[in-house]
Amino acid sequence: MSLRDIFDLPLSAADAAAVTHYNRATNKLLTLNNDPLEEVTAALALDPSLVMGQVLRGLLYALSTEKSQLPEARAALVAGQALAAGANAREQAHLAALTAWVEGRLQAASAHWESILVAHPNDGLAMFAAHQGDFFLGQTSELRDRVARRLPQIEPDSPLAGYYLGRLAFGYEEMGDYARAEDAGRRALASDRRNTWALHAVAHVMEMQHRLDEGIEWLVTRAPEWSKDSFFAVHNWWHLALFYLEREQWDAALALYDEHIRGTDSSVVLDLIDASALLWRLRLQGVDVGDRWQQLAAIWLAREEAGWYAFNDVHAMLAYAGAGLEEPATALLAHLERTALGVGDNATMTREVGLPLARALWACAEDRHAEAVTLLLPVKAISVRAGGSHAQRDLVSQTLLSAAEHAGQRALARALLNERLALKPQSQLNRAWRARVGA
Ligand SMILES: [Fe+2]
Repeated sequence: MSLRDIFDLPLSAADAAAVTHYNRATNKLLTLNNDPLEEVTAALALDPSLVMGQVLRGLLYALSTEKSQLPEARAALVAGQALAAGANAREQAHLAALTAWVEGRLQAASAHWESILVAHPNDGLAMFAAHQGDFFLGQTSELRDRVARRLPQIEPDSPLAGYYLGRLAFGYEEMGDYARAEDAGRRALASDRRNTWALHAVAHVMEMQHRLDEGIEWLVTRAPEWSKDSFFAVHNWWHLALFYLEREQWDAALALYDEHIRGTDSSVVLDLIDASALLWRLRLQGVDVGDRWQQLAAIWLAREEAGWYAFNDVHAMLAYAGAGLEEPATALLAHLERTALGVGDNATMTREVGLPLARALWACAEDRHAEAVTLLLPVKAISVRAGGSHAQRDLVSQTLLSAAEHAGQRALARALLNERLALKPQSQLNRAWRARVGA
């Protein structure tokens, strides 16, 4: 009998115990639980010829979006490619997708994962990778549609259906379809309370709809489930901090920063992004964060990430700008200028969004606010091209509003505030902005 994964898809494998570890790794990945890498490493120790084990190992490194993890991703890919002749067509397509991603051909990787899903709608690993790719590439409608294309072919009430619903919930949310998003997210959680992505999607809905009390309760009461053994915990703590920011409870947001967002001393880029974004929002409100910027900037500086993924580079720049570090800021801008001249998906993202945004952030740090406004105005409308969520990209809008205020461009500031008030008329933070810009 052939060995199969948790989706009942055949695996080129020789060792049933290795497949058990691989399946555990896949399950952990889908629910964002620690530690899929440990499990897949155990699988490959037992059976290095497990093709999908090599693919999964490569994906775990590649989808971290960390440039410094690329050598590990490439090593897994090389090991997987050496097994390609004996691999089945689906596994070969996975190898092609991973190859494209590691080479920086991100949209090509996305197309490979989609081709796998056309043939195998139940390939949850292809869905995971494709969906993460959509998020990183700002392919917002695909966050919804890629899942919707598959869901009718998935056994209802199966764990995979619950997992897909969690993915779909986030897609609906990013497309502004909040009622459907919340329904899908809650149904996914009814299927598996540990579906952290579904829980996170509902938190997004509550953030977008300004349901602050509910959002805080949603995350706090469920914290024992999502905060332990999850590599996504920091991001959900960040979401909780957003609710406190909206209430202007700076101390509560900073407490979350100290205890949880930076509590583990993580140098994982996805965690550093949330830390940078939170401190920047506090800075826009004039909150003194002490030496936190210096500490955070030092961690970004110790990493060599520039030029691989524009979204990350922008968040490194937040830290340098927040800390007022001219030399690393200038070096990063020079690196991004070179990157923008290149070819490939990240070069495009850097040219269109990453570089002008990084320049604007550094202009803010140097009190060149009118210049920041000029840089930010065109970027705001297209910032989705560098990925992330609406909640994350709101940082661009807030920075533009702040720059307009500091540049004395009151008419523009009022116009930008009108936009915010149209979405969240009841926001205490928006009322505070109104007082600042004299609207
Ligand atoms: Fe989020």
